[in-house]
Amino acid sequence: MRLKTSLLKEPKHILFLIICVGWTTADELYSCSEDHQILRWNLLTSETSLVVILPEDFYPIDLHWFPKTVGGKKQTPAEIFVLTSTDGKFHLVSKTGRIEKSVEAHKGAVLAGRWNHDGTALITAGEDGQIKNWSKSGMLRSTLATQGSPVYSVVWGPDSERILYTSGRHLVIKPLQPSAKVIQWKAHDGVILKVDWNSVNDLILSGGEDCKYKVWDSFGRLLYFSLAYDYPVTSLSWAPDGEVFAVGSFNTLRLCDKTGWSYALEKPNTGSVFSLAWSADGTQVAGACGNGHVIFANVVEQHWEWNNFMITLTKRKTMQVRNVMNDAVDVLEFRDRVIKASLAFGHLVVATSLQCYIYNTRNWNTPLIFDLKEGTVSLILQAERHALLVDGAGLYIFSYEGRLISSPKFPGMRADMLNAQCVSLSNDTIAIRDKSDEKVILLFDALTGKPLGDGKSLTHKLEVVEIALDQCGPSTERKIALIDKNRDLYLTSVRYLGREPKICKIGSMIHSMAWNNAANILCGVQDNQFTVWYYPSAVFIDKELLPKTLYTKDGSEFSHAPHILSYVDTKVRLRQRDGSLLYTSVPPYAVLLHENSSSARWEDALRLCRFAKEQSLWACLAAMAIANRELTTAEMAYAAIRELPRVHYINFIKQQPSKESSLAHLLLFSGQVQEAEATLLQAGLIYQAIQVNIDLFNWERALELAVKHKTHVDTVLAYREKFLLTFGRKETNKRFLQYAKGVEVDWEKIQAKIEMELSKERAKAANASVRSSLAQRR
Ligand SMILES: *[C@@H]1O[C@H](CO)[C@@H](O)[C@H](O)[C@H]1NC(C)=O
Ligand SMILES: *[C@@H]1O[C@H](CO)[C@@H](O)[C@H](O)[C@H]1NC(C)=O
Ligand SMILES: *[C@@H]1O[C@H](CO)[C@@H](O)[C@H](O)[C@H]1NC(C)=O
Ligand SMILES: *[C@@H]1O[C@H](CO)[C@@H](O)[C@H](O)[C@H]1NC(C)=O
Repeated sequence: MRLKTSLLKEPKHILFLIICVGWTTADELYSCSEDHQILRWNLLTSETSLVVILPEDFYPIDLHWFPKTVGGKKQTPAEIFVLTSTDGKFHLVSKTGRIEKSVEAHKGAVLAGRWNHDGTALITAGEDGQIKNWSKSGMLRSTLATQGSPVYSVVWGPDSERILYTSGRHLVIKPLQPSAKVIQWKAHDGVILKVDWNSVNDLILSGGEDCKYKVWDSFGRLLYFSLAYDYPVTSLSWAPDGEVFAVGSFNTLRLCDKTGWSYALEKPNTGSVFSLAWSADGTQVAGACGNGHVIFANVVEQHWEWNNFMITLTKRKTMQVRNVMNDAVDVLEFRDRVIKASLAFGHLVVATSLQCYIYNTRNWNTPLIFDLKEGTVSLILQAERHALLVDGAGLYIFSYEGRLISSPKFPGMRADMLNAQCVSLSNDTIAIRDKSDEKVILLFDALTGKPLGDGKSLTHKLEVVEIALDQCGPSTERKIALIDKNRDLYLTSVRYLGREPKICKIGSMIHSMAWNNAANILCGVQDNQFTVWYYPSAVFIDKELLPKTLYTKDGSEFSHAPHILSYVDTKVRLRQRDGSLLYTSVPPYAVLLHENSSSARWEDALRLCRFAKEQSLWACLAAMAIANRELTTAEMAYAAIRELPRVHYINFIKQQPSKESSLAHLLLFSGQVQEAEATLLQAGLIYQAIQVNIDLFNWERALELAVKHKTHVDTVLAYREKFLLTFGRKETNKRFLQYAKGVEVDWEKIQAKIEMELSKERAKAANASVRSSLAQRR
């Protein structure tokens, strides 16, 4: 990725410092300078026109347009902006340049003025060290901070409930709620000149006179710091989607990844770049330059990769597709500028400022084209069946034939704040991490856009930072992997039909993860290793088996904590901290094993395991076979990894007198006690249900069942007595004491009764099998 810059030959604000810039639409920019002029730049016609000449004594400092999308309403062009000046005032200025209102705000210059995200409040920061809060119409509401030194830069937090400002070498995050805690930390070795805070990724940028720029999280933890360059950092700004940011200093413009490393460095002849502003679609950034120029820079040369296709945005409206198998090159031309694109599952989805193009990788000549609602696409996600587009305030699922399938909505939705970590898409499901309560994951049916099931969301015990739906298998078995604030990795079902979902931990210290496209295999970057969960669902089947189903690779070939970009077939693509790309591969067998298991080709699966001679594959097969109630295969697989107690238990299951009892013991095998009991009760096997509880020392439940069904109360009492005797304990349980009084324990009688129950079960099972074979013959 790089910046393509353009400067006019002669500056328009002649030989004066340009102080500030701001976009009205993706193609129109206002600039303001010490020459008292406000200019309008139309990028479509390449014309620059004078909006107004301000009074002689008016020296502007900062400009900020009133936010465009308010409360999810359709985007309207900005109509008004705030302009601050050296004389301690701020001004509300209309599009035509008329000063609607001027307000005395600070002693000395007003160094910054920022609207909050929904335009309900304005903050200003002054040379006098104060920060003030104003209503939309410019009425003073409160003074938020007072300090001894000028506040050079101030911004709102993503929720508009906190502000971030500079205080000499320190940064301060102040919640507007008076009682909440202020965070303050030393951030630079020189005065900090600019800060920014992105709504989508919640990350903070700072830069200053120590010639460095830094990236922080919203707790003030340092994520990246640059070298000390030659000149102070005078401006910096996040692209709206939070994927990249721009940094300006003397004759320098830099484009950086959100993790800090720099994609590109431009050395234009601009003097110091005092302010930077991104267009709302994130395709270009404008800079206000010390020598009277306004610099425009487009982001180009983004790359996308999938299988054997490499795609590059070569110009604003042109892409080049290269098939690395045969070196064939196709050029894709678009009518408008490309804003976002995504390549996966055999399809390229491109959003321009007006339309969406969908290409099949088999044919680059005839894309499907349809118009976009707003044309400010900030995110594209793909599944095999369809794609998700976040366009302005809306969320849309489109089929690859270009048909709108659904458009999920929920109360308080802020689509503009969604990113790839907090939204996930599969053929059947959409998952969204709730921004207002980060412990909650909202689930929707992809085809209808309606909340899943009874509309109950999934709640984790901690804040969730990343989610990912698996992509294969039937929708009833859809799983979601989530990483929480502690960097622990969990797995759970999304279609749990009434029951409370089990959220099981499957890993810790996970920095990044991705599902495979062809099988439900998950890979992740752990602290110092790369791990593949060949069959993550094993955790629901046999928890102890899970660690044996992993494939790991020493992480020494990676730099610290790389980010996984994709996991396609056997190839994993990672981005390292320094920006370099890295590929690693995973053996192909697990994908084949998944295929064999889902098509119930157990002979093939066994052959594969014997051939590959991998313990992890045998462990996967054991769990897969149990999940499919394929006991013979499970027995062989467990035997191959020497899990002898498991082998014995499977034998025991096989010898159960009826199908229901086998199933119940299989459920017990996976720790599903309630389900096992329910299976038995439903089949009328009351004694067996009681016995299961006795075997698990669930004494109270055993007695409860016996009493309720008026059978085997003596059996429960007898086993209880034996149990207490073995451990040298006395009965203290009131209910047992109560029933022991009226019931006589006779082991012989009990044994006989149990025998009878078992033979009854056997006879019934035999009857059932006779009946089913008769039915088959008919
Ligand atoms: C800031 O001003 C806005 C707009 O009037 C108001 O709603 C909000 O309560 C004020 N906040 C503080 C902390 O003064
Ligand atoms: C997903 O959808 C595609 C296209 O309709 C289909 O070919 C594929 O089998 C589906 N995958 C799953 C796991 O349902
Ligand atoms: C099963 O595994 C074998 C390898 O042993 C593979 O060649 C075959 O394609 C697989 N079959 C199915 C149906 O997935
Ligand atoms: C077996 O089937 C016969 C006839 O259908 C029935 O009379 C008998 O009660 C059944 N036995 C059991 C144990 O269900």
